[in-house]
Amino acid sequence: MKRFNSTLGRIAIVASLVLFVVLWVGMVVAGVTGGETEYQLTTLQPQGPFSTLIDNLVAPVFIIAGVVFVGVLGAIFYIIMKYREKGDPELDLTPMPKQTHGHTAAEITWTAIPAAILAVVAVLTAVTILDLSAEEPDSVQVEVFGQQWWWGYRYDVNNDGRFDSDSDVETSTELVIPVGRPVQLSVTSNDVIHSFWIPALNGKRDAVPGMVSPWKLQADEPGVYRGQCTEFCGLSHANMRMLVRAIPAEDFDRWVADQQKPAPEPVTEAEKAGLSEWKNNCGSCHLIDGVNNQQLAENPAALVSGIAPNLTHLMSRGTFAGSIYNLHYPNKVGNDQPFGATCTRDTLADCGDPADVALAGNPDNPVYRPALEAWLRNAPAMKPMAPDQGRGMPNLGLTQDQIDVIVAYLETLK
Ligand code: CUA
Repeated sequence: MKRFNSTLGRIAIVASLVLFVVLWVGMVVAGVTGGETEYQLTTLQPQGPFSTLIDNLVAPVFIIAGVVFVGVLGAIFYIIMKYREKGDPELDLTPMPKQTHGHTAAEITWTAIPAAILAVVAVLTAVTILDLSAEEPDSVQVEVFGQQWWWGYRYDVNNDGRFDSDSDVETSTELVIPVGRPVQLSVTSNDVIHSFWIPALNGKRDAVPGMVSPWKLQADEPGVYRGQCTEFCGLSHANMRMLVRAIPAEDFDRWVADQQKPAPEPVTEAEKAGLSEWKNNCGSCHLIDGVNNQQLAENPAALVSGIAPNLTHLMSRGTFAGSIYNLHYPNKVGNDQPFGATCTRDTLADCGDPADVALAGNPDNPVYRPALEAWLRNAPAMKPMAPDQGRGMPNLGLTQDQIDVIVAYLETLK
C-alpha cells in the first residue's frame, strides 16, 4: 500500500511539473507569435518605444523568475526522489529524521539571496517607471476621457494647455496619432473608474473621475493598435474598446485640418430630411459641430450632451459603438497596408468581411450600412446598455424610412 502511494505521488509530481512547464511555454509562445494581425492584445510584441521599455523589463525579470522556478522545483524534486520510501520491508519508517534548529548560516543565506534578487528587480522596475513618466518634448497633447462605455479624445491643437479652444478637435472611439511622434495623454473619466490600455504601445493607466493622469503613446509604424478597458466599469465593460490609428505625419496634419471643420451642409432631399430627423431624435445627446454645438453653448440645459460621442466627423472613423462594430469595410485579410490599399464599391469582394470585427473597418473604404442601420433600429440589442439610467443609447423606435434618411445624412459626416 505504501509502495502504491509512493508511485502515485511521484506520477502526480511529474505530471504537475510537465503541465506547469507546458502552460508556461505555451503562454510565452502565444504572446510572442500571436501578434500577426492588428487586433491582438499582446504586450510581448511591442510596437513603440514605451512598450519596448516595458518589454526590456519583462525579459530580465522573466529570466530571473525562470531560474528561481527551475531551482526551487528542481530542489524539491531532487529531495523527494532522494529521500523517498524505497519499498525496503526491513526499513523502519517511524524514527524522526535529524532536526536542524538555529542554523545561522542557513538562515542568513535564504534571507539574503531572495532579498538581493528582489533588490535587482526593484531597481530595474524603478528605472523603467521613471523613464515611462518622463515628459516627451514635441508631443501631441490629447485628453482621453472614459465614459460608460466608450472613449473620447480631445486634441489640444493650438497647444494652449486647454482642450476646448475653438481650434481644438474632439473625436471618439478611435485615437488617431502620427507615426514616430510621442503623444502625451491626460487620462480622466466622466463617470466611474476605467483603465486605458493599448498593449502594443504602452502599459495601463487608470481613468479616474476628478483626476488627470499623465500617460503617453508612440507607434513606430503606421497601423491599427487595439486596446481594451481593463477596469470593470459596469454592464458593457467588455465592449469598451479602444483603437489607435497611427498614420504618417503629413496625413495626420491633414486629418487634424479636416476634423477642425464643422459638419458639411446637407445637399440632397434625403440628407436634409435626415438632418431634421437627427435633430429630433439624436440631437439632445450627440453633438455635431455646426449643427447643435451653438445651441449647447447658449443653453447647456437644453442638451444632455456629453453623454454620447461627438459625431461631427463620424465617417472618418472605421469603427463605432466602443469599437465593437465596423462602420466601414475592412481591408482584406493579410493586407499589411491598412491605409494604402482601399477597396471600392466595385471591389467589395476583395475587402475583408465587415461583420468580422476582429478586422477594423478602414475609414477610406465604403460604409458598411447594415451595422449602422441595425444600431439605429435597436442599439441596446447590439450592445448591453442602461439608457434608462442615462448610460448608453436607447431604442428610439425609428421607422425604416427615418433610418434611411438619418444614415443618408450621417454618411455626409466625413
Ligand atoms: Cu470602462 Cu471597463
